[in-house]
Amino acid sequence: MTANRLVILGATGDLTGRYLLVALAELSAAGLLPDDLAIVGVAREPWDEADFRRHAGERLGRHAPGLPVAVRQGLVERLSYVAGDVTDPAVLAAAFGSDTGRSLAYLALPPSVFASAIEGLAAIGGSGGIRIVVEKPFGTDLASAKALNELLHRHFAEEAVFRMDHFLGKQTVQNILGVRFANPLFQPAWNREHVVGVDILWDETVALEGRAGYYDRTGALRDMIQNHLLQLLCLVAMEKPDALNAKELRDGKVELLRRVRRLTPEEVSAGSMRARYTAGAIGDRQFPHYAQEQGVDPALETETFAEVTLFVDNDRWQGVPFRLRTGKALGTDRREIAIRFRPPTDPVFGYEGDPPVNQLVFQMSPDRMVLDLALNGAGDPFCLEPAELELTLAPQDLSAYARLLVEALEGDPALAIRGDEAEECWRIVEPIVAEWEKGSPALLSYPAGSAGPHDRTFE
Ligand code: BG6
Repeated sequence: MTANRLVILGATGDLTGRYLLVALAELSAAGLLPDDLAIVGVAREPWDEADFRRHAGERLGRHAPGLPVAVRQGLVERLSYVAGDVTDPAVLAAAFGSDTGRSLAYLALPPSVFASAIEGLAAIGGSGGIRIVVEKPFGTDLASAKALNELLHRHFAEEAVFRMDHFLGKQTVQNILGVRFANPLFQPAWNREHVVGVDILWDETVALEGRAGYYDRTGALRDMIQNHLLQLLCLVAMEKPDALNAKELRDGKVELLRRVRRLTPEEVSAGSMRARYTAGAIGDRQFPHYAQEQGVDPALETETFAEVTLFVDNDRWQGVPFRLRTGKALGTDRREIAIRFRPPTDPVFGYEGDPPVNQLVFQMSPDRMVLDLALNGAGDPFCLEPAELELTLAPQDLSAYARLLVEALEGDPALAIRGDEAEECWRIVEPIVAEWEKGSPALLSYPAGSAGPHDRTFE
C-alpha cells in the first residue's frame, strides 16, 4: 500500500538537503508524488515550520536549480516540521501521529544514531506498519551489520526495511539484467569460456569535498566497494532470476555473493591496492594532500583509492577475475563496467597493430553502451581493425534517489538491499579490511588529478 506519510529523521542534514528534498521535488514535477502524502521533517534544530520551509527552499534552490520555481515552492509548502531528538518516542509520536499504518520513516541520520532511532520507532508501535529506509553505511563490519539486522528484525519485518543503495536506481545499472537476459546474443557468451575478465570502475574527479567526518573513518573500500561495486558485480554475474520481484532478485544476488571467494591474506597483499591522493590540480581546482584536508586524521591512513580482484567460485565464473576499482580526486571521471571477451585462439586474420579487444562496456553518467569489435576496414581485406558500436541512452528521467524513493513509498523492496545481502558483502570485504589495517599492502599515493597510483593493475 502506498505510504501517506513520509517522516524524514535528520531533516536538516546534508543528505536530506542534497538528495531527498531534490528527489521529492523531482517526483512532484513528474506527477509521481501522491497528493495525500504528508511530509514531516524531524531534527534537533529548535525551528518552527516556517524556519524549516525556508531552509528547505534554500537547499532546493542550491541543489535543484533546474526544477521550476513553482514545483520547488509547491513542495516546500507541503513540508511540516517537528523539533526534537529523533530517538525520543514523544518526538516521534508527534511526527507520526496516531495512525502509523501507512508511514515511511527515512533514517537520514549518522549511523551512530540508527539503533536508537529504530528503538524509538518500535516504542511508538512502529512495528505495526511503519516502513523504514536505512541509509548507508549499513554497519562498519560484519559484526555491526549483523547486530543492526538483528535489531531491525526484532521490530520490523524484513519486507518493511529498505536498505538504500542508490546505484540500484541508476538507469544503466537497471539495464544490465535486460541486456544479459533479453538478448540471446549475449547469454551463451556470458561465462568463463568466453569472458576473460570483468572490470568494474568508478573513477571520480570529486575529492573529499568537506566529508571528512564520514569519509576519513570509512575509506574507498567501505564507501564504494563494499556496497555499490559489489552490487554491480551481482548484476553482472548472477544467474537469471525466475522473476523480477523482491524475493527472486535478492535470492539471486545473495546466491552469487555467497560464491565470491574470501581472499586470503596473501591474495590481499599481492592482489589489492590502496592509495590516497597527494596535492594536485583537477582542471583549475587545486587540492591539498589528503592528509592536510580539513578534519582528516593522517594517522588513520585512510585510502581514497581502492582496487581489488575477486573471484566467483561457481561453474559459470571459475577463474575469471572481477577487478573492482574506485578512487577520488582522479583526473577523469570514468564509471563503467567492461565485460572483456576472450580473443580468438587461432585467428586467421591479421590485425592493424595489437588484436582489437572485444568487449561490451556499460558506461554511466553519461549513460552509454559500447560494443568493441574487430571489423574489416579499408585496405587489406584480411586485416582487421578495432571498431566501436555505440549507443548513448537518453538522460535518466528521474534521479536514482527519486526512483528508489518511489519504490519505498509504494512498499516494493525489490531494489533495496536485503539484510543477508548486506552481511554477505561484509563477509567478502572483511579479510581485505583486516589486511589493510595491518598495513599490507603498503599505502601508495597519487597526485590529485592523475590517473591514480602509477602501478595500478589495470587501465
Ligand atoms: C556515495 C559515496 O554513496 O556514492 C560517494 O558515499 C560517491 O563517496 C558516490 O562519490 C558516487 O555515486 P554517484 O551516483 O555520485 O556517482
